[in-house]
Amino acid sequence: MRSLLHLSDVHFGPLHLPELAEAVTALVERERPDVVVISGDLTQRAKPGQFRAARAWVAALGCPVVFAPGNHDVPLWRVWERLFDPFGAWRRHFSPALERDHVDSELAVVAVTTAFAWTTKHGRLRPGQIADLERRLAAAPSAATRIVVAHHPLGAVPELGAEPPARGGAAALARCAALGVELVLSGHLHHGFVVPGAGERPALVHTGTSTSSRGRGRERGRNSLNWIEVGAETTRVERRLWQPAAGRFETAERIDLPRPPRRPRR
Ligand SMILES: [Fe+2]
Ligand SMILES: [Fe+2]
Repeated sequence: MRSLLHLSDVHFGPLHLPELAEAVTALVERERPDVVVISGDLTQRAKPGQFRAARAWVAALGCPVVFAPGNHDVPLWRVWERLFDPFGAWRRHFSPALERDHVDSELAVVAVTTAFAWTTKHGRLRPGQIADLERRLAAAPSAATRIVVAHHPLGAVPELGAEPPARGGAAALARCAALGVELVLSGHLHHGFVVPGAGERPALVHTGTSTSSRGRGRERGRNSLNWIEVGAETTRVERRLWQPAAGRFETAERIDLPRPPRRPRR
């Protein structure tokens, strides 16, 4: 059994909640997930100091961390940067690479960047990015459980309301299905939910904002994260919500996703 802690939208900046970030660090120390996933929006406004604070916090987690940027990790008002070097501040102050994966003999957790220079609410995946994602998935050990991480939702779900999923998301999901991806972990919407997979289509697993006051929808004013356990027959997603009185994230919902039978990848 392997475990992942899925965080998102930590939003270092004015709306970040340091006591929740400390609670996440304590959770990681206590429960020792195999991998921590942060599905984007590390900062609120892509400022150097916000990235440096995020980098220090991520480094202190002391375990493998998978990440990709979100739309808030691109400068909104610094128009020159936004146009010509949208991820420059990320690269200089958070990570030289846009994405970080984790691959071992049992887990292949692969991240893609759906934010882009003119990103606002919506994301995008270009054909070249999908081809690169395919290459990384295909190169992983054949026995590894395949999981993809993207900030914006890749598939249309009722929780999106009138917003569309990321452009290119449907094509990416089709390739994910063909390559045996079981879960797609995302954020951006600031509330959590799970859409079970159907046939070959992977399950879509969202978490709300783990450490900011930007919760929306049914998680307005709330904070959440997902604890995910990949077992032999079942993947269990525990949706945990922050309980201020208890001072910890507590399980609100458990969703068991049957694992698909092994099949040849195309
Ligand atoms: Fe966000
Ligand atoms: Fe976002």
